[in-house]
Amino acid sequence: MAIRCLRARALSSVAARGVLGQSRREPRLVLGIETSCDDTAAAVVGETGRVLGEALHSQKETHLKAGGIIPPVAQRLHREHLDRVVQEAMDNSGVSLNELTAIATTIKPGLALSLQVGLEYSLKLIEQYKKPFIPIHHMEAHALTIRMLQLVEFPFLVLLISGGHSLLAVARGVDDFILLGQTLDEAPGDTLDKVARRLSLRNHPACCTMSGGEAIEYLARMGNRLRVEITQPMSRHLDCDFSFSGLRNQVNQIIMKKEKEEAGIQDGQLLSCVNDIAAAVQHTVAVHLAKRTHRAILFCKKENLLPQSNPALVVSGGVASNKYIIKILQIVTEANGFSLNCPPPKLCTDNGIMIAWNGIERLRAGIGVLHNPKAIRYEPKAPLGINLSEQVGKAALKVPYLKLKI
Ligand code: KG4
Ligand code: ZN
Repeated sequence: MAIRCLRARALSSVAARGVLGQSRREPRLVLGIETSCDDTAAAVVGETGRVLGEALHSQKETHLKAGGIIPPVAQRLHREHLDRVVQEAMDNSGVSLNELTAIATTIKPGLALSLQVGLEYSLKLIEQYKKPFIPIHHMEAHALTIRMLQLVEFPFLVLLISGGHSLLAVARGVDDFILLGQTLDEAPGDTLDKVARRLSLRNHPACCTMSGGEAIEYLARMGNRLRVEITQPMSRHLDCDFSFSGLRNQVNQIIMKKEKEEAGIQDGQLLSCVNDIAAAVQHTVAVHLAKRTHRAILFCKKENLLPQSNPALVVSGGVASNKYIIKILQIVTEANGFSLNCPPPKLCTDNGIMIAWNGIERLRAGIGVLHNPKAIRYEPKAPLGINLSEQVGKAALKVPYLKLKI
């Protein structure tokens, strides 16, 4: 079955900018606000999935220079930019705050200091404009984004891979998820970011403005993964959980060895085999994700959790922008008669559109629309759905051999 990486409908804010009267055709409009990590984002989305206006301020450059996200710095930057970002999204949309149906904001999970900024700001807006509030779970928003772009009916299997998360779940409804597995240590994006930092990719002329994951993908295209040997994580664990920290330790050992071999290499200088290491890391991450996803598909088939006709896998989160990883996953979906559905990179990474769309989904379903949100708190840690990971492990399903090569 063909991979469907669709372009967002009416994604261009230019197209949507100030087109008088268009907003009136949208029965309901939601402003979405995202500040859970290092992106300050806002968007206005209509009930049909039309993006009326959007704006985003990325802190990536600051954090790249600092060598990682420093929460108080992230908080300060959110505080400095949020009002402007919201104003810009509103201006682009051509609608006023009074015309909104509701305001939706990420309140979990994420960095406490970052979440706090978005929530406090939203509560003030809600008070001022007397609007209902829709608190958003960041991972739910990633999972549902695809439904703004194309028809993907519940239930479907979803793989969410980002800098903060990695999980496999069955989405049965807007707020109804079954968790099949998640990372036991770090998330794949975090691993790729740390490996990129260890390889000093910031000093690579082509990669200096890229996130770690993007840089690894870029260099991997020119590398030979077979020149660097990395053992697959958790191959004896017959569950759907993930682990990436062991893989990172292995890569660190390899880098140390290569640095010794390339005697005289200075701190911050690039190894000559940097492309090969990138290719090997990317491949190992891709295969790990693919094997766990394959097992999740088998578990869903065994437990009848998904429809027999046209079952769907949705992949989202920042790491889903990686074309190599998507191609490896496609081998698994094709072998099992699943479609593979993935938002475009712009909607895979954090953005305000997915938050606003999650608000629309909740409005339509009449779930979690609060008229008196004063008691609402942000939650840095928040599980997604009912956890069936243990049952998945007990089922100990063996994944048949598949040639995971491109
Ligand atoms: O979803 P996201 O924007 O923020 C979180 O919620 O974490 O994901 C950011 C992560 C970063 O770790 C970044 O390195 C990774 O997504 N990423 C990629 C690519 N683009 C971004 N990883 C692999 N390949 C890419 N092309
Ligand atoms: Zn995210």
